[in-house]
Amino acid sequence: MRECFEIRATDAAGRLGDLTVPSADTTVETPALLPVINPHLDTIEPGQLGEEFGAEILITNAYIIYNSSDVRERALEDGLHDLLGFDGAIMTDSGSFQLSEYGEISVTTEEILEFQRDIGSDIGTPVDIPTPPDIDRERAEADLETTQERLEIAETVDTGEMLVNAPVQGSTYPDLREQAGRHADATGLDVFPIGAVVPMMNDYRYDDMVDAVAAAKRGLGADAPVHLFGAGHPMMFALAVAMGCDLFDSAAYALYARDDRYLTVSGTQHLADLEYLPCPCPVCTSHDVDDIRAMPDDARETALARHNLHVSFAEIRRIKQAIRAGRLLELVEQRARSHPTMLDGYRALLAHADQLERTDPVSKGAFFYTSHESANRPEVVRHHERLARLAVPDSVFLTEGDASSDERYDASWRVRPPFGPFPRALSRTYPLSAEVPQHQDRSALEAAATGVRRLVEANPDSSFTLGHRDWPAAVLEDVPDRVRVLDLTTDFESLE
Ligand code: GUN
Ligand code: ZN
Repeated sequence: MRECFEIRATDAAGRLGDLTVPSADTTVETPALLPVINPHLDTIEPGQLGEEFGAEILITNAYIIYNSSDVRERALEDGLHDLLGFDGAIMTDSGSFQLSEYGEISVTTEEILEFQRDIGSDIGTPVDIPTPPDIDRERAEADLETTQERLEIAETVDTGEMLVNAPVQGSTYPDLREQAGRHADATGLDVFPIGAVVPMMNDYRYDDMVDAVAAAKRGLGADAPVHLFGAGHPMMFALAVAMGCDLFDSAAYALYARDDRYLTVSGTQHLADLEYLPCPCPVCTSHDVDDIRAMPDDARETALARHNLHVSFAEIRRIKQAIRAGRLLELVEQRARSHPTMLDGYRALLAHADQLERTDPVSKGAFFYTSHESANRPEVVRHHERLARLAVPDSVFLTEGDASSDERYDASWRVRPPFGPFPRALSRTYPLSAEVPQHQDRSALEAAATGVRRLVEANPDSSFTLGHRDWPAAVLEDVPDRVRVLDLTTDFESLE
């Protein structure tokens, strides 16, 4: 049993939890956003991150501190919390990212972990190897071996109360990511960042990000707190949370601000292209676009960074509320409409519906069918699995119409796209009580036909009649031949 992480609520593979950080004597509510602080330049002062934005945890780079003698001495003498002026939890990275950018760094895992402990970091990081997407299998395996050796070294270092990250690498090889997750989980380390996704984020490869997270999660235990390293755009937080990520770090708020870029939950806007500020944050309600454009560079950068952070923290709160309300996938579905690559990410998530189904609550508020992708949600997959287990009488009328009192049938079950058939007594239970649009799409009908097939195949000794409303022939092809099929909109004479 992992002691530092407690899960309070789940939705899809997303969770609302508490990460206990002993050395900071605090608990961080997850999903959490860790603003990235560069020890050399404060776009926004760390103290203000807590006060204005409610940040409970931030992340900075121990390698940068280690390498600059003046900051290093101050960090060792006064401690990281005093140095930054932040009394929440602080995570530190190890220089691995510099390693991936510049090819070499001059510190070992032992040295940097001891340094992180000595400056009072609350969550430290070994020197893992960020292994980029699409590289040779041999190199991915060799890199992973090195990363795993470093995690084993990290286990032997005296890190005191400091929690330690166990990064999960493996490039774009799902089996390596899964193996890396299993290995990391078996160490005594505490927090599990999924590494080297930054190049995927930079190329909008949200589908590959989803596959990497899904694979790593198959290896990690259900109680492992998971960080998505270097993912800071609020557009993708809901998607990543739904896959089971608990922590995010954002350098984006500051990097984008430096470039006059304005973050929104549906993408990035350049300040030059905006005529209005579509946001209710304090920056956007106390200035108009012209005010911000006219600011001196420093003030403009700070104003945009503050806006970017407000948007990012608001999205995290929205996600937490969505988990509480059982509406996380509806939120992901909205975000998926922001950009075609986000839609690819959502479709990749749904391709893992069976994996999400394992943590998805059995009952939530209401299932809203809001796009044809909704037909592939884990709740639909679960209903189809359940159809193979339900007790079925000898002859059943499956119908989109009202209950039949026709004596030829032992029972009349309801058929409701996208779920398919179910006993009428379950009509008011989740998710069968779903709100669906009047105008059904093809995906909902196809999913319903799959449900019929699952039920029929699991009950070879029962006889089935299907009464549908205008299902196209191609959809009916999925219904087994031995089902008698009636179109309720035309076959009046066969009905009572
Ligand atoms: N920051 C962004 N990606 C990574 C990674 O893969 N490893 C580490 N240590 N830091 C990162
Ligand atoms: Zn704003």
